Amino acid sequence: MPAPVTDAERRRPVGVFDSGVGGLTVLHELLVALPHEDFLYLGDTARFPYGERGPAELERYALEIGEALVERGAKLLVVACNSAAAAALPALRERFEAGRGIDVIAVVAPEAQAAVVATRTGRIGLLATPATVASGAYESALVAADPHLRLHAVACPDLAPIIQGGFPYDEQVVDTVRAYCEPLRAARVDTVILGCTHYPLVRPMLQRMLGPGVTLIVPGAAIARRVESALRARGLDSPQDGEGAYDFLCTGDPEAFRRLGTRFLQMPLGEVVRVGLGAGVAA
Ligand code: DGL
Repeated sequence: MPAPVTDAERRRPVGVFDSGVGGLTVLHELLVALPHEDFLYLGDTARFPYGERGPAELERYALEIGEALVERGAKLLVVACNSAAAAALPALRERFEAGRGIDVIAVVAPEAQAAVVATRTGRIGLLATPATVASGAYESALVAADPHLRLHAVACPDLAPIIQGGFPYDEQVVDTVRAYCEPLRAARVDTVILGCTHYPLVRPMLQRMLGPGVTLIVPGAAIARRVESALRARGLDSPQDGEGAYDFLCTGDPEAFRRLGTRFLQMPLGEVVRVGLGAGVAA
């Protein structure tokens, strides 16, 4: 018989991570859907962007971050970064789920499933980082659900850095975003997966450029549902009645993270603590 779960264990935070502020689009949904839970968010800003890195490097980073969050008490891990999820999910699951009974919930599969349900024509678009597109993770997830679907994937090397940089609304940015949308318009897709957690932050611009008839798929709500059911299944849902706390760690400049994060989360961020991870990352 497993030992009963204590209140102290149930009060531990849910760990969430991304390379930067993009994962705040997922955290936002988690804060709304699971108000009693505590959250601990880590943005690996010193090593941003992840989108041009290779799978071995991304797997190493994701495992380091997982360890850092679990060391600080995380009871479940949310991979709120598509580039990291596409490269590292099997390794994360093996180490934390199989090895220590800590569930890992990640982007990619939830959006693929939502896109399969949403499309009427079978033509699905994907906007994502070069790392995510190169991984083929979305093709695999979609083809497993329906082998007749057609995925049109567009790698967007500049989009996450533009958003992470504070998103200046100038003409050059608009032209860059429009160029990424163009192949999807030409392919007449009816559904587009925003396959990078930074992209929901420019959702109105993308919707305008792709057209009002195109369904945009974002992962936040589906991730929140999965976190809720995973916590319940292990009896780890928080026993508190009031609003939980949410705290932030980053590997780069904490003040820059706080400023940008407050704007994007649309909630106050409070103190952001800098942590050191791996070699060459600020301690
Ligand atoms: N938000 C991250 C993702 O979902 C990536 C951005 C980056 O670091 O390049 O892929």
